[in-house]
Amino acid sequence: MINYTEKIPNNVDLGRDRVLQRALEHWQPAFLGWWSDMGPTESRNYDVYLRTAISVEPDGWAQFDYIKMPEYRWGIFLQPRDERRQVNFGTHKGQPAWQDVPGEYRSTLRRIIVTQGDTEPASVEQQKMLGLSCPSLYDLRNIFQVNVEEGRHLWAMVYLLHRYFGRDGREEAEALLARRSGDTDNPRILGAFNEPTPDWLAFYMFTFFTDRDGKFQLCALAESGFDPLARTCRFMLTEEAHHMFVGETGVGRIIQRTCEVMKEKKLETPSDVRALGVIDLQTIQKYLNFHYSVTLDLYGSDVSSNAANYFTSGLKGRFRETKLEDDHVLIDAFYPVSEVVGGQIVTKNVPALTALNERLRDDYIDEIADGVSRWQRVIDQAGIPFRLTLPHKGFHREIGNFAGHFISPEGEVLTEEAWKKHEFEWVPSPKDYEFVQSLMSGRVAEPGKFANWIAPPLRGVNNQPLNFEYVRFN
Ligand SMILES: [Fe+2]
Ligand SMILES: [Fe+2]
Repeated sequence: MINYTEKIPNNVDLGRDRVLQRALEHWQPAFLGWWSDMGPTESRNYDVYLRTAISVEPDGWAQFDYIKMPEYRWGIFLQPRDERRQVNFGTHKGQPAWQDVPGEYRSTLRRIIVTQGDTEPASVEQQKMLGLSCPSLYDLRNIFQVNVEEGRHLWAMVYLLHRYFGRDGREEAEALLARRSGDTDNPRILGAFNEPTPDWLAFYMFTFFTDRDGKFQLCALAESGFDPLARTCRFMLTEEAHHMFVGETGVGRIIQRTCEVMKEKKLETPSDVRALGVIDLQTIQKYLNFHYSVTLDLYGSDVSSNAANYFTSGLKGRFRETKLEDDHVLIDAFYPVSEVVGGQIVTKNVPALTALNERLRDDYIDEIADGVSRWQRVIDQAGIPFRLTLPHKGFHREIGNFAGHFISPEGEVLTEEAWKKHEFEWVPSPKDYEFVQSLMSGRVAEPGKFANWIAPPLRGVNNQPLNFEYVRFN
C-alpha cells in the first residue's frame, strides 16, 4: 500500500533516506510552482473527481474523490521488487538485475530517463488551455486526470534522477521544470512535444497516438536491466492505459456524432457536414495523418547505433522482450528497414540490433491499426462509404530514412513541389484548424450536456451517471 501520511506519498521507504527526502522536498515546491504556471489554466480552485492510486497493484485504483489539483497527492510508486529478476537481454543477459546504476552506463541511462521525463510535463503544457473549451464535464475531468498523472510520471523520473544520479540528477530534475513546450530558446527535447495541441480533436488524437508512443517506450524501459527503472515504468503503464482510452473513445465519439448527423440529414459533402456544426470525416483523416506521422518520428532513426547500444547494454529492451522467442542477444539477426533509393522505396535487411527503433515503431503501428479499424467500424455501422486509412510510414516524416523525402499518404515518392501542392489535402490547413476551433469557442459546463460535435460516452467514470458533476468550478 501507498503511505499518504508523508509529505511525499511513496512506497519506497523514502523516510529512511533523509538526504534524498530533503532533496525531493526541495524539488516539490518548484514542481508546484511549475504546475501553477503551466498546469491547466484557471483550474486552481476546481474540485475535480479524480482517482488516486491506493496501491501499485493493477486493481489499486479504487479511490475516487473530489480533489483540488494543486493538492493532488503526487508521489513515488514503484512496482514491488522481484528478488529473482535478471537482466533479460543483451550482453549481461542472465546476471541479476541491477539495483544500482552500472558506472559505465551512467550517462546513457541518465539520458534515457531525462528524455522520457521531459515528455511528461511537456504534454501538460501542450494541453494547458483546453479546459476552457471542454465539450462536457466528463471530458474536462478526463483531461485533468491525464494531466495530474503526467505530473506524477514526471515525479517518477525525478525520483530516479535524485536517487541514483547525485548532483547531475538534481540538475537534470531542475531542467525538467525549466524547458517549455514550443519555446524557441528552451524547448522540450522531442519534436512532437513541441507541437501545439490547439483543440480537443488534437487532444484526443494526441492521447491516442502520442500517449501510445509513451506506452511503447515505457514497455521497452520496463524490460530494463536497471531494476528501479523497470519497476517505476510498470506502474506508469497502468496509468497510461487510461490516457489511451480517453484518446480512442474521444475520437470515436467525434466520428460517431459526425456519422449520426450525416445519416440523419443525408449529407456527405464536407462543407454541408461542417455547416451542421460537426467535424467532417475528411478533416478527421487529416488530423490522423498529422498526429500519426509526428508520433512515428518519436521512435528515432530507422537504423541507429544508439538503439543497438541501449539493447546490448541491457538498458532498454524490446516490446514484450521476455515473451519473445529468440536469443535476446540478436548478434546474428536481421530486420527489414525501408529507405528511398533513386526515387523508389526499397526494403532491405539490416542487422537487427541497429533496427530496434524501427522494430518498436512497427509494433506500435500494429496496435494503432487495430484502433483505427475500431473507428472504421463506427463509420461502417452508420452505412457511410468513407474509409479512414493510416498513411504510409514514410509520409510527412522528419526523422530517419524518410526525412527529406516527399512521400504521399499512399507511399509514392514525389517532388517537393508536387507534395506541397497536395499538402492541405493530407494534413490540416490553417483553415481546418480555424474551423475546428470555431466549434470549440466556449466550454460546456452543465452536468450531462455534451457539445454538438461529440457523442456522449457509453458510460460515466467509476459507475457514476453521465450527468454527474465531475468538476465543480467553485
Ligand atoms: Fe506519461
Ligand atoms: Fe500519458
